[in-house]
Amino acid sequence: MLKNRQVLLGVSGGIAAYKICELVRLLIRAGAKVQVVMTENAARFVNPLTFETLSQKPVHIRMFDSGTGPLKHIELADKAELLAIAPATADIIGKIANGVADDLLSTLYLATKAKVLVCPAMNVNMYEHPAVQDNLINLKSRGVMVLEPDSGELACGWEGKGRLPEPEVILEACEYAVVEKDFSGKMFMITAGPTREAIDPVRFISNRSSGKMGYALSRAAKARGAEVILISGPTNLRAPLGVKLVRVENAEQMMKACAKYSQDADVIIKAAAVADFTPRIKAGAKIKKEKGAPVLEFTRTPDILGELGSRKRKDQFLVGFAAETEDLVKNAQKKLKEKNLDLIVANDVSKKGAGFDVDTNIATILPRAGRTEYLPKLTKLELSYKILDKIIKLFP
Ligand code: CTP
Repeated sequence: MLKNRQVLLGVSGGIAAYKICELVRLLIRAGAKVQVVMTENAARFVNPLTFETLSQKPVHIRMFDSGTGPLKHIELADKAELLAIAPATADIIGKIANGVADDLLSTLYLATKAKVLVCPAMNVNMYEHPAVQDNLINLKSRGVMVLEPDSGELACGWEGKGRLPEPEVILEACEYAVVEKDFSGKMFMITAGPTREAIDPVRFISNRSSGKMGYALSRAAKARGAEVILISGPTNLRAPLGVKLVRVENAEQMMKACAKYSQDADVIIKAAAVADFTPRIKAGAKIKKEKGAPVLEFTRTPDILGELGSRKRKDQFLVGFAAETEDLVKNAQKKLKEKNLDLIVANDVSKKGAGFDVDTNIATILPRAGRTEYLPKLTKLELSYKILDKIIKLFP
């Protein structure tokens, strides 16, 4: 995670610099220590005072400003754990790819041993120019992480690739760049969201799950180096960077997707709120009200987690969730045993700040062997990291 990480944020002179104001807020909210460095051109787009106010720190622009000492660049470079350049113009990309150090930001790139993230943003023709592409290939070959720009309408009026991704995406890339890859080589299958069980072509039965917990887990597992397949019911969420998203609608489809992808998975986490019942008959045409109020009959859906538990291999680690409104620990322990899990995360969904459609959760982690851990209210991302910490201890 980004908590207490030293982020050196290099802003170069493109119109997308305005988006970085929001990025600074997000980084600070994530607990990062942010030092902004701007090029002289960037300071023409956004007033340095804006960044100083948001980061609560002086912004550095020139190499030899009086009062800051001649070795400021070395001090900044040594302290950084991540140098994130966003937006990165064709100019700064060209300089750092070719070892030119004629201003503070390009000098910092040469001086730092930190991880480097470059977020290009420019006109589509500039971005696609072989000179820029060659420079990016060159940077990538040196281990620099490059966040692909988005496609769409550009500030210059052109349509195409070159738009700086939204601040939330850059934040995620920063997290990915600094987090230790302790799950590298492992394959995760994670499920998320609700399922929708059709009544007729326009109506369905569902539940309040937003998918936030499963998406946060996928983001954290990816940041920690795992390959992640996220099987998701219908949600409004963006897939985390680098995660393979498989969309499903109902319990039956989720079951099929899980059967397919679980075979290669080392770790399976079932955070989805799967419907337990589905209408016995799904009407082929819209049910008309003239026919009177329908009486729905339900049948049980497959218990996917139970199935996965019964087929679990010795080299697989299976994690379930228990959404409860009473007898939390007792019910969770029962599910842990009955479904042959290695770990269960229980939460009282009736509590404020826990459960469905909120950004936080209050969870209790119960391993098959070992101590039950009662956690305070955490963001779903913080909780995800705690769950992964537990998994790595039990399943090295
Ligand atoms: N689950 C599943 N398939 C189902 C129902 C639940 O895989 N048809 C999984 C959920 O993804 C979760 C775990 O089982 O990881 C527990 O879900 P929960 O709704 O808390 O419990 P249920 O097993 O449905 O039991 P109950 O309804 O009695 O609480």
